[in-house]
Amino acid sequence: MQSITEIKSLRSQIRAWRQAGLSVALVPTMGNLHRGHFSLVEKAKTLADKVVVSIFVNPMQFGANEDLDNYPRTLDADKQGLADLETDILFIPSVEAIYPNGLGVQSFVDVPGISMGYCGGSRPGHFKGVATVVTKLFNLVQPDYACFGEKDFQQLQVVKTMARDLSIPVEIIGVPTMREVSGLAMSSRNGYLSSDEKQTATILFNTLNHCAQQLKSGNKAFATLEADAKATLESAGLKPDYFSIAQRDTLKAATLEDTRFVILAAAFLGSVRLIDNIQVEV
Ligand code: PAF
Repeated sequence: MQSITEIKSLRSQIRAWRQAGLSVALVPTMGNLHRGHFSLVEKAKTLADKVVVSIFVNPMQFGANEDLDNYPRTLDADKQGLADLETDILFIPSVEAIYPNGLGVQSFVDVPGISMGYCGGSRPGHFKGVATVVTKLFNLVQPDYACFGEKDFQQLQVVKTMARDLSIPVEIIGVPTMREVSGLAMSSRNGYLSSDEKQTATILFNTLNHCAQQLKSGNKAFATLEADAKATLESAGLKPDYFSIAQRDTLKAATLEDTRFVILAAAFLGSVRLIDNIQVEV
């Protein structure tokens, strides 16, 4: 595995692959890699001749009171895991390489509509930061495929919409969420939780599952299902941010005519914000 920090070196390696007719898949990450990320790399390997993984803790997608400074950084372990998977390039740019003129004057990509509400509502500017850095990574790596986890379901839909709207020649691949045996969705932010809290956090997936079962059994009283789910989370000690039943592909509020849903949830456990979702087809 080649570790590359300079944009110039990255571009010259990509150019050489292109000239040799090789296809490329990109897995963008912020590091602190776990089995969920590794499953993205494994998927990428099945799609393309060469796999590039990026690790960049993107300051543009963090709000003022969020965990940018404390975001877990575990580069040595990440490198080892990626080398074991025979990743071709690990791209680890500096903040200065990605935003040479600073964030104040940085051009940006905004994806209206699908970015609004849910995490976009609670984290203003978050998806602008995600869409901007992902566009830059697409322009740097020029991948045929890019893999994103379904755990960040709204992010996946934002990136798909952006690639379509801006005619970026990349196929966006969603990869199913990896879970602990307890059902807890794997996330770098789980590292902030004590083992007791990890146990408590499983209520999020259990509540999503319960709601999914209700939908499957024909209960379409969406508002009541959402309110009941929030009450369950609260009684377990979580502070729900949102728990919403949405149309799977548009993320608009579900209607009685819909058959494909996604239930999206975010909740705080102490200061840790957990997100998860479940797709349901009835
Ligand atoms: O999901 C993430 O880790 C980040 O939002 C991403 C896609 C790497 C962009 O910084």
